[in-house]
Amino acid sequence: MLASLFDLTGRTALVTGGSKGIGKGVARAYAEAGADVLICARHETELQAAAREIAEALPVRVEYAVVDMLDRARVDHLAHEALHRMGKVDILFNNAGNNRPQTLADTTDAVWDEILELNFTSCMRLARALVPGMIARHWGRIVYTSSVMAFASNPGRGLYSGTKAALVGMTRAQALELGPFGITVNCLAPGPVLTDLPLSLLDAEQKQRFADRTAVKRWGQVADMVGPALLLSSDAGAYITGSTILADGGLVCRTFD
Ligand SMILES: NC(=O)c1ccc[n+]([C@@H]2O[C@H](COP(=O)([O-])OP(=O)(O)OC[C@H]3O[C@@H](n4cnc5c(N)ncnc54)[C@H](OP(=O)(O)O)[C@@H]3O)[C@@H](O)[C@H]2O)c1
Repeated sequence: MLASLFDLTGRTALVTGGSKGIGKGVARAYAEAGADVLICARHETELQAAAREIAEALPVRVEYAVVDMLDRARVDHLAHEALHRMGKVDILFNNAGNNRPQTLADTTDAVWDEILELNFTSCMRLARALVPGMIARHWGRIVYTSSVMAFASNPGRGLYSGTKAALVGMTRAQALELGPFGITVNCLAPGPVLTDLPLSLLDAEQKQRFADRTAVKRWGQVADMVGPALLLSSDAGAYITGSTILADGGLVCRTFD
């Protein structure tokens, strides 16, 4: 009975940024819960390896698509491709994202446009294209990967924080629009999670400081994101919508020391 709440047998999920990090972990968890999965990212070698790894371990259909989420036409086409290849998309884990730190004074239009497009606009475009099918089936789950940086920030992180906070706001409106059609819309807001993304931006001392500021005194693992993602993507989370689940090890609890 309890297990059936998280059972995704018969569901199909699309996971952007599914070749590594949080996206790959969540795609595998969806597959373990019984869903067919389509993962996408830019680099084919990593995508192929991730898809093969999941498919070899689990008796579900796993496919991949090479997509640059900065290419609007490709994002729009991805929705059609997913419906054509997989038959339907019930769960959208809208997760591909990046962080290109720059202070206000150093902000360039090019970096601004790129991160806004990737972290926010592309997420809306993909959801917009997939929602009609969810409405027709009267069941859908949309999960945006926000960040603890929607709620607290650091110098140079204004653009990243802004896009992640924008997802939190957009989620509330979409939850109200889509709730009557059996669709929930939520954000998962990770704290520091050991993936390539933060590791490429932080030195060893900064990494230690992040861990020290959490309540649990450690970095998150991709595995720590799987439970919250499954909750928001299954029948277990049917009454959760418009919400943002902070999975940050208590990072934002602390004020100055
Ligand atoms: N890790 C953290 O501490 C943390 C904390 C809070 C929020 N987040 C958020 O979690 C999400 C996943 O991050 P992660 O930590 O798992 O990072 P990651 O390991 O670097 O994975 C990022 C994924 O996104 C894909 N991607 C990046 N740019 C893309 C583009 N233009 N088009 C299509 N796919 C693209 C990457 O594949 P390709 O490079 O092949 O395209 C990869 O699959 C992001 O939205 C991030 O902002 C992460």
